Order: sequence, then structure tokens, then C-alpha cells
Amino acid sequence: MDSISMQLPDPAAAAEEGHRKIAWAREHMPILNALREEFEADRPLDGETVGMAMHVEAKTAALTELLADAGAEVAITGCNPLSTHDDVSAALDAHENITSYAKRGVDDDEYYAAIEAVIDHEPTITVDDGMDMVAAIHESHPKLIDSILGGCEETTTGVHRLRAMDDDGELRYPVFAVNDTPMKRLFDNVHGTGESSLANIAMTTNLSYAGKTVVVAGYGDCGRGVAKKASGQNAHVVVTEVEPRRALEAHMEGYEVTTMQEAAETGDVFITTTGNRDVITREHFERMNDGVLLANAGHFDVEVNLDQLSELAVAEREAREGVREYELPDGRRLNVLAEGRLVNLASPVALGHPVEVMDQSFGVQAVAVREIVENGDDYGPGVHDVPDRLDREVAEIKLAAEGVEIDDLSDEQREYMESWDHGT
Ligand code: NAI
Repeated sequence: MDSISMQLPDPAAAAEEGHRKIAWAREHMPILNALREEFEADRPLDGETVGMAMHVEAKTAALTELLADAGAEVAITGCNPLSTHDDVSAALDAHENITSYAKRGVDDDEYYAAIEAVIDHEPTITVDDGMDMVAAIHESHPKLIDSILGGCEETTTGVHRLRAMDDDGELRYPVFAVNDTPMKRLFDNVHGTGESSLANIAMTTNLSYAGKTVVVAGYGDCGRGVAKKASGQNAHVVVTEVEPRRALEAHMEGYEVTTMQEAAETGDVFITTTGNRDVITREHFERMNDGVLLANAGHFDVEVNLDQLSELAVAEREAREGVREYELPDGRRLNVLAEGRLVNLASPVALGHPVEVMDQSFGVQAVAVREIVENGDDYGPGVHDVPDRLDREVAEIKLAAEGVEIDDLSDEQREYMESWDHGT
């Protein structure tokens, strides 16, 4: 398969615009900039080949360039057919040590062909968002596995899939669950998804949240952020859950908690954040009000069952760019954003998470890749937590960049915290 530069009519102009976007992101990524200084000096990835499947936009590009500047050959493609920015992809492809196959709007065959093209580079390290590349390597290229040192996984759904594979004894090289680190999950999933999903829904529709009922399906890290930010924009927030403690937490935060069946009747805006399938289905569409907005922030486009909605609809049209209206037999119209794909990355105006948030997530990615090269032998096949010392390292770089000072434990305090025999 050809790289993106061979597919665009004017790759040089696209690359120039892509470089502009990347430069802006890099200016606001102090963690990656600090790591760049270290990586350029030490070249920890000399001789390695990194294969990446991620959302190819400006912040990811900053990570990709960092890995290349650390000495690696990098091949990259998208992890979603709608989240790629072609100009950023072209800018990456113009780097002498990077090949990018990512292109926006590809069909399923092209999407998987691009993953195959990355695998053709014979990566020694994989960096995934959703696990599609790890899956393709295990299914179709098992001979490569012996030469792979390890991998990193960015998102909750990818970590779930990897753990399921590990439980079945099928995962044959070590992969770090980058998603699960505090520096990623507590900021990216909560604040990033909350802010960027709501912003993209508002920009795509030009509508307000104030006075509306926003239904958030799933009260995990992403749902918690979406609910909080929607509430902050004066929406009435309703939460649906299947896990009793998460439901109770939402209840104690003051949100209305109910079933999707009930929420379907009152919601104006529905946002799914479950990582599960068929969360909004025919029985819910049948109860919804005219004009509702349906958006998904979970990794795959299976949370809102669009096949069932299509079957139910008598007519479909593009109501606005990025908004597909489904007209039901009784005249009600339900509006689906970004084809049910993750709305903060796949809607036409999408920019993904704020830069500062991705600086943290990708800071963890970068140090986890360095760990694979430096200490990979310490990790057997399977899913591994990123060592806490690495997460702390990234937090310390960020605090220093922000000029925030914190206290140190005294020797007495440390001894007290580590002992079990200090009672009253
Ligand atoms: P999580 O596991 O913390 O939360 C998911 C919640 O959904 C859980 O509390 C679970 O009980 C609940 N749930 C599952 N099935 C449900 C159902 N049928 N109805 C109601 N609730 C249900 O996961 P997290 O980190 O919040 O991630 C959620 C999804 O968002 C994943 O697919 C993840 O990959 C994706 N993600 C998307 C991002 C974005 O940029 N849009 C960023 C980070 C994660």
C-alpha cells in the first residue's frame, strides 16, 4: 500500500499545513518537549522499529516525531477511519524516519490494509489505541512475535480486549496498559473526553446544553467527565449504568440515575461512554422525542445500534455536516452525530482532546516505550501495569513545567507510613 504522500494531490501543501498544526501542539506539550531533549541526547530507540495505530492528529504526531527523534523507524496508521487529519499524516510522512499510511474516510478494507502496511515494516515495538494492530499481528503474522520486544495500549477498550486475550492465554508478548495509569486515566478519560465530546457536539450542531436533559450512558472515567462538564454547562444530567457502585456514585453526585428505557423518554442529548455494544437500541429509539441528538464517545461505533435505527427509519438525510437525521414513521427525527463513531475525534470539526491532556497521556506512552527497550526482559507475555515510578516521573515533569511545588515526606513520615506498629 502507498503511504499518504502518494495518495494526496498536493502532499507538500498538505504537509506544510500539518507541520503548522503539529508546531502549535508541541508548543503546549512541556512533557514531550522535556522528554525530547533526553531522547535526542540518549537515542534510546536506535535500531528499533515502532508500529503505531492511533488517531493521527497533531498531538499524536508530536509523540510519533518524538519516537523517531529517539532513533526509531516509525510506521503509523489510524485507529479509526474518521479521526485522521490528512495534512498531519502528510507532515509525518515527510519525516525521513516516519512512514504514514493514515487517511481520513477510508473503508474497512483500506483501514485494515493500512494496518497490514505498518506491520510490513516488521515492528519491534507496537503502540496501539484499541488493539487492532496487536490483533492483526497475532492473527496473521505470528512469525513476527519473537522479534517484538513489547507494546503499549492507549485506551480502555484496547486494554479490555488485551486482558481478554491474556486470560485466554493468547497474548504472546508484553503490553503496557498505558490507559490504566493515573496520569492518563484521571485526566485524559475524565477531563479530555468530557471537554472535547461536549465541545464537538456543540460545534457540530451549534446548539446549547443549557436547560436540556443530557443522558450519559456509563459512569466510568469518561462518563464521569462528560456528566460533570455537562452539568457545568447548566444541563440536567441523567446517568444510566449497569454497575451498582458506579450507579450509586452518580446518584450521590446528585445526578438522576435511571434505566435507558426511562431516560429515552426525557433526554434531549444522549452520549454513550460505556465501551459496550447496543446501549441504545430500537426499544429506546421508539420512545425518544423529536429532534434528539445521539452521540457516542466510546471507542467503537457499536454503542448506538445504527442498523436498527436505519431499519426503523422511513427517510435519512444529512441535516448538517456531521449530523445524520433519521425520520421515523410517525415523523419524529433522531439525529446521529459522526456516524456513531467517537464524537470528539470523528466529527467534521473534531480536534480530539485538549493538547495539555494528551501531553500527559503521550508522556506516559513515551516513557513506557523507553521501558520496553531498557528493561523489556523483565516483562513476560501478557498485560502489564506501567511501573508507578514512570507515572510519577511524568507527573514531576508536568509539575515542574507548571511551576507547581509540592512537599517532600520527611524521614519520620516515610517511616510512619511504611510501618504497621504505630497505634494510638
Ligand atoms: P470504564 O470501564 O471506566 O467505564 C465504562 C462504564 O460503562 C462502566 O462503569 C460500565 O459499568 C458502564 N457500562 C457498561 N455497559 C453499560 C450499559 N449497557 N449501560 C450503561 N452503562 C454501561 O471505561 P472508560 O475509561 O470510561 O472508557 C469508556 C469507553 O470510552 C471505552 O471504549 C474507551 O476506550 C473509550 N475512550 C474514549 C475516549 C475518547 O476520546 N472518546 C478517551 C478514553 C476512552
